[in-house]
Amino acid sequence: MQNFEDFLLGHLPKVPSFHPHYEEAIHDMLRAGGKRFRPALLLGVVGAYNPLLLGGARYAALAIEMLHTYSLIHDDLPAMDNAALRRGHPTLHVSYDEVTAILVGDALNTYAFEILSNAPFSDATRVKLIRELSINGGLSGMVLGQAIDCFFENQPLSVDKIKLLHVNKTAKLIAASLKMGAIIVGEEKLEDDIYDFGIKLGLLFQIQDDILDVTQSDDEAGKTTNNDDGKNSFVTVLGLEKAMKEANDLADELTQMMNSFDEKLYKELFPLLTNYINRHKG
Ligand code: IPE
Ligand code: IPE
Ligand code: MG
Ligand code: MG
Ligand code: MG
Repeated sequence: MQNFEDFLLGHLPKVPSFHPHYEEAIHDMLRAGGKRFRPALLLGVVGAYNPLLLGGARYAALAIEMLHTYSLIHDDLPAMDNAALRRGHPTLHVSYDEVTAILVGDALNTYAFEILSNAPFSDATRVKLIRELSINGGLSGMVLGQAIDCFFENQPLSVDKIKLLHVNKTAKLIAASLKMGAIIVGEEKLEDDIYDFGIKLGLLFQIQDDILDVTQSDDEAGKTTNNDDGKNSFVTVLGLEKAMKEANDLADELTQMMNSFDEKLYKELFPLLTNYINRHKG
């Protein structure tokens, strides 16, 4: 991922203006790091089937990371999760102000689609990528999940509804990352299966995140933790032990699914996926 990190840092949007900190604020959270999990998934699929397309695929990976970073900036706002730390840095509404955080989020959201519109693929592929990112990252995906997450604070939901919430707010973007890789390499037959795998992987990722919220300090996580009290997190609703069991069951299921990947995909994704699938086991 070092290559991708260098690519991202070399492609921070340039927006010189007389605004005292607009450009700096746009760069802040992108530069702060993060696991770059979604780009790694997309690039993993592309690397498995056609490494020659990795250069172009980095633009799609960058677009996803821009949209994801926007979602984090808005997630931390006082009106949402009210968090002061993200990626080891003060959140933008703390470093600057709320207006800046809102607008930087807006800018990164739309910029993601600008990047995709310029990515070095055919028009048909570009449209498919734009559609996938907007469906999963937007009004019937991540944004819907965030709306449910925030609306139902302090109102416990059933486990099925919490799963739906997690699928929308987190899993769909993770599933889209894998599927966008399949779109880039033209593996149409893989698209649905890899998306379904990604939904389960994303659900596990969010359950793990809910577990880490109660098991890690701010310093360890690089973000504000112990912040889910009023949320419909797996841990607040089921308790830590049952949440761990859900995570273990999903991890087993995903490991089995991964074993039936074709050889190229398995070889390319196994190290990354094993690491993440077992993340909650500490
Ligand atoms: C955090 O995502 C928000 C969730 C969907 C759980 P990540 O855990 O991928 O955050 P970064 O990108 O590493 O900062
Ligand atoms: C947020 O979930 C998921 C997003 C769509 C950003 P969380 O609120 O649990 O993410 P963290 O724990 O703040 O990273
Ligand atoms: Mg949240
Ligand atoms: Mg949050
Ligand atoms: Mg969380």
